[in-house]
Amino acid sequence: MVEVTRSAARVTVIGTGAIGGAVARRLLADGHEVVVWNRTAGRSAALVAAGARQAGSVRDAALSSPLVLLTLKDYAAVGQCLAHLDIDLAGRTIIVLCTGTADDARLTARRVTSLGAEYLDAGIQASPEMIGTDAATIVYSGSRPAYERHRATLRLLSTPRFVGEAPEAAAIWDLALFGLWYDAQLGLLRALDTVRGAGIDVADFAHPAGAQLGHVVAAVSRTAAEMHDASYPPGPADLTEHLTVVRHLIELRAGGRLGDGGLSAVAARIEALVTDGRGAEGLTATIG
Ligand SMILES: NC(=O)c1ccc[n+]([C@@H]2O[C@H](COP(=O)([O-])OP(=O)(O)OC[C@H]3O[C@@H](n4cnc5c(N)ncnc54)[C@H](OP(=O)(O)O)[C@@H]3O)[C@@H](O)[C@H]2O)c1
Repeated sequence: MVEVTRSAARVTVIGTGAIGGAVARRLLADGHEVVVWNRTAGRSAALVAAGARQAGSVRDAALSSPLVLLTLKDYAAVGQCLAHLDIDLAGRTIIVLCTGTADDARLTARRVTSLGAEYLDAGIQASPEMIGTDAATIVYSGSRPAYERHRATLRLLSTPRFVGEAPEAAAIWDLALFGLWYDAQLGLLRALDTVRGAGIDVADFAHPAGAQLGHVVAAVSRTAAEMHDASYPPGPADLTEHLTVVRHLIELRAGGRLGDGGLSAVAARIEALVTDGRGAEGLTATIG
């Protein structure tokens, strides 16, 4: 359980689905006064039985607390709730905890600040069961003073991390991490599909596949440092050698059900760098 300094400020949770329910339960467990509102009121019954107050409307919910958390399905739902708030929200902080795009975050920040409130956008790297444990990470962006003011409360939910004053920073961080998972997992699926298609035993292939993914994990800090320092040593292969392998892979993956994983664009980028006389650099040069 995340340890924090006890503070019993009132908090509103709008949207008591899986994440919102877990958030409200954690706040109640710490002794916070919690006001809840959910489109389907019955879904908040267990929270009300546990001590939360059910607001009669989104407006009532938002006006009830200095800190208002919107834990809704998506930004369309957030927009629909905010449309009910044609009121002065000065002195309040509104935090949107849902998965969305950079534009979603920017537009929502504009709407919230036009109502006089401070805005934080949040990206949740956790399942509902992880909320309130150190295994959960939630990233926040937007108003730094609002983040600092509510940090103790946010610490109840996860290890909080402020990632920038641009409202969209948390959404970009969150989506980039999801993208990393998709790229790695789909890369694995593509490889398994390819070897199975060639009649190779996928169970035999699994161990070396894991070792290969481990090389990527082991290189994360070094790669970030290369990017930071704008220095691109060749490592195990230079760009000229990478280009040969990438072209072979494009051929191997032709007609594959998951496509070639964007390798055509990668090959074009490497070709341009090689033409530019940078063939002796390493793969990180492709984003340099
Ligand atoms: N669950 C996870 O493991 C997880 C992990 C990371 C991030 N997230 C993100 O966290 C957010 C919440 O996820 P969740 O798992 O809590 O979803 P959920 O259990 O489906 O809950 C969605 C909530 O949004 C409300 N809602 C949906 N459309 C609405 C509308 N038009 N107007 C008002 N309320 C509306 C629902 O109300 P009703 O009860 O009336 O339908 C419910 O309270 C999502 O953006 C999700 O991508 C979830």
